Amino acid sequence: MKAIVQDRYGSPDEVLRLREIEMPAVGDDDVLVRVRAASVHADVWHVVTGQPYVLRLMGGGFSRPKNPVPGTDMAGIVEAVGRNVTRFRPGDEVFGETVKANQWTNGGAFAEYVSAHHGSLEIKPRNVGFEQAAGVPTSGLIVLNNLQGQRSILPGQKVLINGAAGGVGSLAVQIAKARGAVVTGVDSAAKLEMVRSLGADRVIDYRSEDFTRSGERYDLIIDVASTLSLADSKRALAPAGLYVLIGHDHYGKARRPVLGSLPRFFLNAAISSFVRQLGKSFFEPLDRRETMPVLRELLEAGKITPVIDRTFPLSKVSEAIGYLQEGTARGKIIIVP
Ligand SMILES: NC(=O)c1ccc[n+]([C@@H]2O[C@H](COP(=O)([O-])OP(=O)(O)OC[C@H]3O[C@@H](n4cnc5c(N)ncnc54)[C@H](OP(=O)(O)O)[C@@H]3O)[C@@H](O)[C@H]2O)c1
Repeated sequence: MKAIVQDRYGSPDEVLRLREIEMPAVGDDDVLVRVRAASVHADVWHVVTGQPYVLRLMGGGFSRPKNPVPGTDMAGIVEAVGRNVTRFRPGDEVFGETVKANQWTNGGAFAEYVSAHHGSLEIKPRNVGFEQAAGVPTSGLIVLNNLQGQRSILPGQKVLINGAAGGVGSLAVQIAKARGAVVTGVDSAAKLEMVRSLGADRVIDYRSEDFTRSGERYDLIIDVASTLSLADSKRALAPAGLYVLIGHDHYGKARRPVLGSLPRFFLNAAISSFVRQLGKSFFEPLDRRETMPVLRELLEAGKITPVIDRTFPLSKVSEAIGYLQEGTARGKIIIVP
């Protein structure tokens, strides 16, 4: 089959090549999927470049990626199933994340076929195309993982999403609206019309207005762009409001090549018992078998509609990652084998 292969970490245009390789092995708990569409997101950039370096110690592969085929998010048609798999059968249309636990590893989705654990997949709603479904898994799971427990959104709450036009932010806007929140989206001016079209009640251009000094108070601030300090966020939070850090390294521009955003997460966890606005810290993501059905229902009901900016053929994955890095995309970047 044709696949994008990387034998080492580095800049996408230097390390990614289109090659003919063996079909992936299908384990007893796996599903072999013929990929119809895959998508590019910030974590793909992390694993292709091997940055921050700590990801190499977290299962990605120390000197080279353990799995040479990048990509984690895809939608396609089931070709075959392992002998323990009863949830799917050949011909089913599915979507999901092809990694089992850690998003900082290659998942093999930038290929004609991929083998994934059945627990990471879900039936694709019939009313949603492959390209749209492929844009949802990682970003949607990040949103759901971060809206657990104390951070659950209640109807009528005021929610601000900082970085509302990106992969995670655009789904966060729609999921918060689906839960009845009054949503403010913050991003750069050129993307605000799209944020409004996703349902945001109010939009703010971060370059022309500092919302932390406007006097407005929010029940929840979801900091996808990860550009806010805790002190700034506190000024804009209601008395019982919470701040949620998503963690973004801005494709290397944040200059944290060794540990990325991890020190900030660990610091927040360490002080969370004393800083009420941080809520209770948790690092365990929800089981995909619980969260993928939630994403399917939201898609099926039209409560989330992934916006597609551009589609690239499989041979142009490095250009697609370069376009993601530019930061001008309004919506998801899709790869079609
Ligand atoms: N916490 C978790 O559970 C978890 C798990 C996995 C991954 N992640 C991380 O989640 C992040 C996902 O982000 P994404 O895919 O949504 O990124 P993205 O598509 O790059 O979007 C980020 C958006 O933020 C905007 N932005 C930049 N600076 C800003 C500022 N100062 N204020 C407000 N908005 C600003 C950008 O617009 P302009 O560029 O036009 O300014 C862009 O529209 C990744 O970094 C990934 O590593 C988190």
